[in-house]
Amino acid sequence: MKHSKLLPGMWNFPRATLCSALRTGFTGTLALLLIGTGNVLTAQDAQQATSGAGAAAQSAAHAKHPAKKTSELPGAVPGAKYVGSDTCKTCHDDLYSQHFEGTPHFALTKEKDGHGCEDCHGPGSAHVDGGGDVTKIIRFSQLSPAQASQRCLQCHESSLENVDFNRSVHLKNGVGCLACHSPHHSTQPDYLLKNQQALLCYGCHATQKAEFERPYRHRVDVGLVQCSDCHNPHGTFVAKQLRTAAGQFPVCTKCHSETMGPFVFEHVPVKQEGCTSCHTPHGSTNPRLLRVSQVNLLCLQCHSPTFGSNVPQIPGFHTQSAKYQACTMCHVQIHGSNFNEFFFR
Ligand code: HEC
Ligand code: HEC
Ligand code: HEC
Ligand code: HEC
Ligand code: HEC
Ligand code: HEC
Ligand code: HEC
Ligand code: HEC
Ligand code: HEC
Ligand code: HEC
Repeated sequence: MKHSKLLPGMWNFPRATLCSALRTGFTGTLALLLIGTGNVLTAQDAQQATSGAGAAAQSAAHAKHPAKKTSELPGAVPGAKYVGSDTCKTCHDDLYSQHFEGTPHFALTKEKDGHGCEDCHGPGSAHVDGGGDVTKIIRFSQLSPAQASQRCLQCHESSLENVDFNRSVHLKNGVGCLACHSPHHSTQPDYLLKNQQALLCYGCHATQKAEFERPYRHRVDVGLVQCSDCHNPHGTFVAKQLRTAAGQFPVCTKCHSETMGPFVFEHVPVKQEGCTSCHTPHGSTNPRLLRVSQVNLLCLQCHSPTFGSNVPQIPGFHTQSAKYQACTMCHVQIHGSNFNEFFFR
């Protein structure tokens, strides 16, 4: 059988660090979570989750220190000088007051060396002198996704969130910042997104949309869990743009901390093969997001003579039948136990 590797190893990382990496957006939905099926999250996690806000604020602060001058980036108009946002406002009053003033980027007009509009559109003197000559100002519609993204990255690359963008699967496939964000025409309250997150992603990921419509699923449709809880759309250093919390923990245990251990008696595949050896991450037709329809079939995929000699066989008194009562009736602590080597409790 095929086991997808979900970040093996590195299990001894302190839990506090792990929890502090929880996304801030997740905290709001916590009340809902605690009503749910099990102790998916603890109150302690909830409290620690809020400490993520500090990290987010810190990364936003990084955005204020551009590494390169705007005038040196692709699309810049040679010889043009900065004229200041107030000048732009004289002709672009509507855009200024309706699509700029209320956005996070208005902060650029307040910074010591900030140029406001021209931080993105480049120095505007030639455009103004030409009475609004559109060929003398940076128009994002004329830039490639990569070029446009470089303009954004001059300020945002230093954020931990964006630091891997240049090697992201998205950019490599021609998906730049403006596929997901719009500085002037965002429809969302947060992050200048073009659409509500799941819908934004589904726009290009139809297969995943179908997976999240299955009967058992992580409920991204209501925002209980977000795509960005598990993936970083800006790219990461691991496969599938998956997030790893601090210390490279697998992405699942930041919420399902009860499965994390370390346990006195580990169920080896949980740590060696990862959660996705038994569960599908998005959605499944099987309860508990299991990969197979029947829990016994799942166990017997490994605990059978054909699999391999290092896996203990089921004892003689067990029947091989898939109709035998569910293995997890007795082997209850299937992710590992501190009390019993056979995971009875
Ligand atoms: C003298 C009036 C005037 C001033 C001042 C001015 N613009 Fe313009 N701008 C125009 C006109 C006219 C157009 C073309 C019509 C349109 O798209 O609104 C234009 C177009 C643009 C476009 C291209 C829009 C597109 O079609 O993609 C951008 C970007 C732009 N201006 C940015 C700026 C910035 C930034 C400033 C300040 C540095 C500025 N403008 C100052 C008159 C002006
Ligand atoms: C953070 C970067 C950024 C800043 C700051 C910025 N713009 Fe833009 N501007 C863009 C992008 C990107 C587009 C392409 C449309 C979009 O994605 O919203 C755009 C589009 C435009 C357009 C084309 C018409 C439209 O509505 O899309 C005009 C005109 C314009 N900007 C003018 C301005 C003016 C004037 C300012 C300052 C008041 C300004 N921009 C500040 C990034 C920026
Ligand atoms: C000159 C620097 C600069 C450039 C260029 C720039 N930004 Fe920003 N960006 C900022 C600053 C500063 C903030 C506000 C951070 C804050 O609120 O503390 C910001 C905020 C944002 C936010 C909202 C973050 C949040 O936490 O809500 C997004 C999304 C964003 N920028 C995307 C873009 C995109 C896309 C581009 C390219 C079109 C771009 N930025 C270009 C400096 C820049
Ligand atoms: C595939 C879609 C996608 C692309 C491409 C994308 N973003 Fe984002 N971005 C998001 C989503 C979704 C969020 C909200 C993340 C969350 O909820 O944790 C976000 C959040 C952000 C934030 C706020 C979080 C932070 O602290 O950094 C900034 C700033 C940002 N993006 C900038 C950019 C820039 C700059 C680019 C291009 C270099 C870019 N994004 C490309 C989807 C995208
Ligand atoms: C609970 C965590 C989680 C959430 C939420 C999640 N994903 Fe995933 N996703 C994963 C994991 C884990 C994989 C890797 C699966 C594997 O390798 O077997 C993956 C794989 C993918 C892939 C690659 C598929 C392939 O076959 O190569 C895409 C695309 C994807 N996810 C998109 C999304 C989108 C879009 C959303 C939100 C609508 C989303 N994911 C939400 C965990 C998640
Ligand atoms: C404009 C289209 C577009 C949007 C919007 C978009 N993606 Fe993608 N995404 C792609 C393309 C193209 C690829 C590369 C081909 C593929 O794997 O499907 C990709 C790949 C991925 C992968 C797989 C990476 C891998 O290693 O195989 C993940 C995960 C992913 N996207 C998540 C997201 C998430 C989460 C969102 C929403 C925040 C999102 N995407 C929004 C176009 C998009
Ligand atoms: C952002 C937090 C979060 C992350 C990350 C996360 N989950 Fe979940 N998970 C939840 C929530 C919340 C539920 C309950 C969903 C519901 O009731 O709709 C859940 C439900 C489940 C269930 C079903 C539980 C049941 O009782 O039916 C399984 C199995 C599961 N997750 C496995 C995973 C795996 C595997 C990963 C990593 C790929 C993962 N989760 C990542 C929050 C998360
Ligand atoms: C060896 C297979 C296997 C692996 C690996 C595995 N699980 Fe499970 N998991 C199960 C089975 C079987 C159940 C259903 C138990 C039941 O029906 O009582 C389950 C149930 C769950 C549940 C539902 C609540 C509960 O405890 O019953 C969650 C959440 C969960 N798993 C998360 C995870 C996470 C997170 C990982 C990775 C750290 C993981 N699982 C790895 C087999 C596995
Ligand atoms: C992906 C393969 C795999 C799956 C699926 C799997 N196991 Fe295991 N299991 C193992 C391995 C490997 C060991 C540990 C062997 C060792 O200790 O060296 C193990 C150990 C055990 C042990 C402890 C045996 C002992 O002697 O210590 C029990 C009990 C067990 N599994 C029950 C189950 C049950 C019940 C299921 C189904 C819910 C299941 N396993 C699913 C691979 C798997
Ligand atoms: C009625 C309760 C019960 C059910 C149901 C059950 N087991 Fe067991 N299992 C046991 C007991 C009791 C032992 C032996 C413990 C001992 O040796 O002390 C055991 C031992 C095991 C061992 C360890 C064998 C060894 O030599 O180390 C494995 C593996 C195992 N079971 C797998 C399964 C699988 C797979 C299923 C489902 C097909 C299952 N069990 C269903 C009670 C159960």
